[in-house]
Amino acid sequence: MVTVRVVEPEDLPVLWAMAVLPHIGATADPSAPIPLPTSCSAPEQFPDLADPFSTILGVGGDFFVAEADGHLVGMAGFRPTSHPARVEVLHVRVHPALRRRGIGRELMAAVETGAASRGFKETWLDTATNMPVAMSFYEGLGYIEVSRETRPEWRWTLVYYVKQLRPAMDRTLAYTRSNRRSWNTIAPARPSQPPEFFRRGGSTLDDFEADLLPELSGKRMLHLACANGGDSISWALRGASVTGVDISDVAIESASTLARETAADARFVAADVYEMPAELRDFDVIYASWGVVCWLPDLDRWAQIIVDRLRSGGTFLLCEHHPMWEVLGVRPDGVEVTVDYFGRGQPTEQTYDQAKRPTGSTPETQFDAFVWPVSDVVMSLMRAGLQVEEFFEAPAPEMYEGLADAANRVPAIYVIKARKD
Ligand SMILES: C[S@@+](CC[C@H](N)C(=O)[O-])C[C@H]1O[C@@H](n2cnc3c(N)ncnc32)[C@H](O)[C@@H]1O
Repeated sequence: MVTVRVVEPEDLPVLWAMAVLPHIGATADPSAPIPLPTSCSAPEQFPDLADPFSTILGVGGDFFVAEADGHLVGMAGFRPTSHPARVEVLHVRVHPALRRRGIGRELMAAVETGAASRGFKETWLDTATNMPVAMSFYEGLGYIEVSRETRPEWRWTLVYYVKQLRPAMDRTLAYTRSNRRSWNTIAPARPSQPPEFFRRGGSTLDDFEADLLPELSGKRMLHLACANGGDSISWALRGASVTGVDISDVAIESASTLARETAADARFVAADVYEMPAELRDFDVIYASWGVVCWLPDLDRWAQIIVDRLRSGGTFLLCEHHPMWEVLGVRPDGVEVTVDYFGRGQPTEQTYDQAKRPTGSTPETQFDAFVWPVSDVVMSLMRAGLQVEEFFEAPAPEMYEGLADAANRVPAIYVIKARKD
């Protein structure tokens, strides 16, 4: 299995060797050993690889490696350019023995997702006419040739390509903006606890959630899709300094009022999780719960945003309804599969089980919801560079009203706790 993750310092000696491996046409030797002999210094022609943490990551770019069976088998990165909307794609390499297995595609997906999640609108790269396989690879990914460069001393022609990242983002935002209108309509009808509840020390969190984040004093927490802020205030009462973000400005207004009335260490920002203000970063903890994943048209981009906004050593905690619960509808005569468990980025149809629609909504309130298999959630977070520390599924019989004892035998929730190294 191939995993794409963010580069780590221990990777450098292998990356240095991979960067200078002959990789063009017939010189790409498929018999090269997969555990590459390491190099003890960066190649002269790629001085930026000596310390990509400052030359690439430190200037707003990112660098990814592909790992297969514990060995590094590919790499790719990107770095901002003087053009504010554009990043340059750098050092794309796949081990010659492992070509044509989708590793390059996965690396380029990480690059494009990472660049788009930082607000860049296009990726730019160059390859050359003596690398026809690379040219058709990039063209297959939607790269458009924009210019060529020749020099008397070259036996090849350099070819420049650009790809617009915006279409994928436009699609994502079309869904989230349309959902935002519906969230604003139903926000006032959604249940919340009054300020006295919190003033008396009440908490809306489940005990197990609090147990998963025991040490919060002095920690900065970002709560994604915080709704009317009850959980955010509960975390603040446990010692965290909380910033809640939600796409619904109506919900954010209630949350801000609740923070004022409870004097909790919490502040709230109305923003789409896909377009959060740049200053919301370097958090010790990011938390999201109970009905967030199903509103995400693009899971990889969301995972990348989480990694970008966490500080190194920070923790992400997701406590979520199980997609199996979203799929199964309990009917008087049995259980019905109401939507596709593998729906992923395709919005569910209007047959979506009414019992699973947001509290406060009516059958007329239009929402675009997405069912993401649990394995996709785990893999997106891992691909973005998080280390999964806890992952469990559990029943919650009260969520399957009408299923009686059988409700103990199907998953209702899942929890992922992960760390950014
Ligand atoms: C079911 S609620 C989440 C439950 C929340 N944890 C709570 O305790 O109430 C879903 C929330 O996600 C928010 N939301 C949906 N899409 C979002 C997006 N793209 N960015 C930010 N918030 C979003 C909605 O406005 C809504 O408040």
